[in-house]
Amino acid sequence: MNQIKQDVPLIETVHLKKYFDTGSGVLHAVDDVNLTIQPRKTLGVVGESGCGKSTLGRTILRLTPATEGQILYNGRDILSYNPHQLRELRREMQIIFQDPYSSLNPRMTVSELIAEPLVVNKVMKNKNQLKERVKELMETVGLAPRLENAYPHELDGGRRQRIGVARALSVNPKFIVCDEPVSALDVSIQAQILNLLMDLQDNMGLTYMFITHDLSVVRHISDEIAVMYLGQCVERCGSKELFDNPLHPYTKALLDAIQVPDISLRGKKKPIIRGEVTSPIDPKPGCRFAARCPQATDACWGSQIPLREVSAGHYAACNLI
Ligand SMILES: Nc1ncnc2c1ncn2[C@@H]1O[C@H](COP(=O)(O)OP(=O)(O)OP(=O)(O)O)[C@@H](O)[C@H]1O
Ligand SMILES: [Mg+2]
Repeated sequence: MNQIKQDVPLIETVHLKKYFDTGSGVLHAVDDVNLTIQPRKTLGVVGESGCGKSTLGRTILRLTPATEGQILYNGRDILSYNPHQLRELRREMQIIFQDPYSSLNPRMTVSELIAEPLVVNKVMKNKNQLKERVKELMETVGLAPRLENAYPHELDGGRRQRIGVARALSVNPKFIVCDEPVSALDVSIQAQILNLLMDLQDNMGLTYMFITHDLSVVRHISDEIAVMYLGQCVERCGSKELFDNPLHPYTKALLDAIQVPDISLRGKKKPIIRGEVTSPIDPKPGCRFAARCPQATDACWGSQIPLREVSAGHYAACNLI
């Protein structure tokens, strides 16, 4: 395993694009995204359903091929990796999903589920070692030993997600994409899983990309936040700065939407801003949020609006700032 360099970002994307050819044109799911994640830090990625968050995560993990651009991991271009290097990389980069239930085989017990990635990756030398490691992982993620023979359907959502976390941790990764890991959980259990993820980060030196459509969830766990809109990053800065001083009209609208806490609506994927979302298929040049932006002027249409550094470490893509 390569030593993690502390003086370069663990993850960097350079003009990263992921397009899908669809029957009705080219869908720009990730469109020219530049981001960095420093070692042991968390980048929160937020935006409405369909803005490309999962596609961005999956492209960085090389679970889906990039269309254009570069992905650097620990300073090295992983798009040029050969199959051998890629196999090693697969262990260093893991993913935790929103709904562990659909990603867990219902016929396997807790201990079998946690052992599975260790067996597939041939990490343990013998059965005893494997058993010990599974026990240790269960303790690490807060699953009581008595649950080792339980099946996923016998557990609540929080415990199922703890299995998902243990599976991701089992191969000692450095980087984890957490794709809406708490969105399917009750609010009270969300905090437990978020705390677990933060403790694990501290103890194991993990680096996270934390994807969510819910800005309030990402506030405490993120060091930096990137706001995505239709495949593009429209604002990026430190987490506190984003909440104290949002610049992009879209970010402001997202923040307005969480000012009125309505527990019954949390976790639901509802459109939170008025106006029609522009199609991600063959998008026209110009600001993609313009059609819904209350402040849009003629200058917002026609040419690309790049992300620029408005103040130190605070980037926004908007003509009006
Ligand atoms: N395999 C695919 N083929 C074609 N289009 C796809 C594919 N995967 C994703 N897309 C499209 O790419 C865009 C981004 O999808 P993605 O799932 O990344 O969004 P998301 O931000 O993760 O949304 P959600 O919050 O609902 O999970 C959407 O328009 C989606 O329909
Ligand atoms: Mg998604």
